[in-house]
Amino acid sequence: MNSTQEQLRVKLSQALVGAFGEEFATVDPILVAASNPKFGDYQANVALSLSKKLGQQPRAIAQAITDKLDVTDICEQPEIAGPGFINLRLKTDYLQAQLNSIQADPRLGVAVAKHPQREIVDFSSPNIAKEMHVGHLRSTIIGDAIARVLEFLGHDVIRINHVGDWGTQFGMLIAYLREVKPEVLTTADVIDLGDLVELYRQAKKRFDADEVFKETARQEVVKLQSGAADTLQGWKLLCEQSRKEFQKIYDSLNIQISERGESFYNPLLPGIVEDLANSGLLEENQGAQVVFLEGFSNKEGEPLPLIVKKTDGGYNYATTDLAAICYRIQQDAAKRIIYVTDAGQASHFAGVFQVARRAGWIPEDVEVVHVPFGLVLGEDGKRLRTRSSDTVRLQDLLDEAIARTRADLETRFQEEERQETPDFINHVAKVVGISAVKYADLSQNRTNDYKFSFDRMLSLKGNTAPYMLYAYVRIQGISRKGNIDWEKLGTDTQITLQAEAEFTLAKHLLQLDEVISEVEKDLLPHRLCEYLYNLSEKFNKFFESCPVLKSEEPVRTSRLALCSLTARTLKLGLSLLGIEVLERM
Ligand code: ARG
Repeated sequence: MNSTQEQLRVKLSQALVGAFGEEFATVDPILVAASNPKFGDYQANVALSLSKKLGQQPRAIAQAITDKLDVTDICEQPEIAGPGFINLRLKTDYLQAQLNSIQADPRLGVAVAKHPQREIVDFSSPNIAKEMHVGHLRSTIIGDAIARVLEFLGHDVIRINHVGDWGTQFGMLIAYLREVKPEVLTTADVIDLGDLVELYRQAKKRFDADEVFKETARQEVVKLQSGAADTLQGWKLLCEQSRKEFQKIYDSLNIQISERGESFYNPLLPGIVEDLANSGLLEENQGAQVVFLEGFSNKEGEPLPLIVKKTDGGYNYATTDLAAICYRIQQDAAKRIIYVTDAGQASHFAGVFQVARRAGWIPEDVEVVHVPFGLVLGEDGKRLRTRSSDTVRLQDLLDEAIARTRADLETRFQEEERQETPDFINHVAKVVGISAVKYADLSQNRTNDYKFSFDRMLSLKGNTAPYMLYAYVRIQGISRKGNIDWEKLGTDTQITLQAEAEFTLAKHLLQLDEVISEVEKDLLPHRLCEYLYNLSEKFNKFFESCPVLKSEEPVRTSRLALCSLTARTLKLGLSLLGIEVLERM
């Protein structure tokens, strides 16, 4: 099934050609949802944009287009309004037929991508021997949601954890551990990540202050790079240790991801620099090998270099990302590579993409995109920190969300004199708590900074996970109350629309595929949140104004079908955000 918007676009294109000739086949009809239901459901604004080109009044152009426009199956007679908008109102018959068809479709009318392709989502990507911080949490949540949407659309997605597991810092850490806690380098599980992070800090201090230690650390890097057995074993244990901690977070959040860390690309780095030299892009700058970036300059107006080989001969973050691009394009055959990191890395990616492009590594049909996100702020509007001004530990944060949810639940159940088992309470607390954290992040336009507030994210009011989950539960409550088996209701019920609130709800239900294809394009999951939030609100209005169980047949069954379709849409939409629904809460 083609989305309504898509069908209308095609028809508008045909009308443009009919009115003005073949060369108008590629003109965008500028079809958007109507700003006000008074004017219909969609509006095409192309007439205004063609006025200059055609040397005609927009209204006359709109008229010429409508004269050729054949939308009788879908819309009422189009109307021209204002300076030259073409207003389109969907026909009731059409709406009903569409509803009946998405009802019978397990995908709820969301078509599989016309050209499924290999896509890579590079997300989460914490660093070994360091804490995973809220920035990584954002990347994890947003990256997972994007991957879920793309997978649902039938793309072949590789979820990659580009873990920071390589670099000179390991020489420093290993050298220090040899002195103060050598058993960490030979035995598993003798240190927890928090202590390791603390030792890392001390090692760094020592490194900056002590020339002799610096040299020892350097030798350790050389040993690591040449694969010396004892150093390599130490490094592996450090990685193992961190990996276990990361995995706990992924388990709590229900995240699937495969690790392909920086070290994976290590053998490819010399070749990358060589290729850059061969293509004439490489220059020497203060002893380092660099590529000067076009369009980037520092405050003094000098061109900015992207360093690919440092003065000491080592490679860096950028070199690894260049190797990763090549590998992902050549070996993985990726057609789109999506990098989910904080906005602070925007210039890093701009530089890397530019160099890869100039080196000829990115074919025409491959897209590389940085998906940036803003900071997580505390209630005070400053970067989120704990009282001791350390970064917040993610596990603590998730545990607190769950604990607070549990406390809320217990109070509510007591007030309602409801008896629930501890298992039930634990399960609900976990689902709601985790969903609240995820949803609070996803519902923001990711490019903005956002304030982390337990009170807000756990509230039953507003655009929050508890509100959304509750809307779903409420619909399930209808089926319990009326003893309705949604399955038995069947997917072939005839939905007929009468009341205003039914129309509003129905039209919204039919827009799921449009929203999902927007997320596929723009990689902005908050659009899906907004859609689901509006859906719950429209459902509530419908439910307040239209009796369901108390209606006479056939209205009763038709309304029940609308309820069921709303619940299925909520469930599907939330699942694409990585949020599971509850039948009761
Ligand atoms: N490890 C990096 C960090 O913690 C993020 C890596 C993102 N992915 C990449 N291909 N550079 O900031």
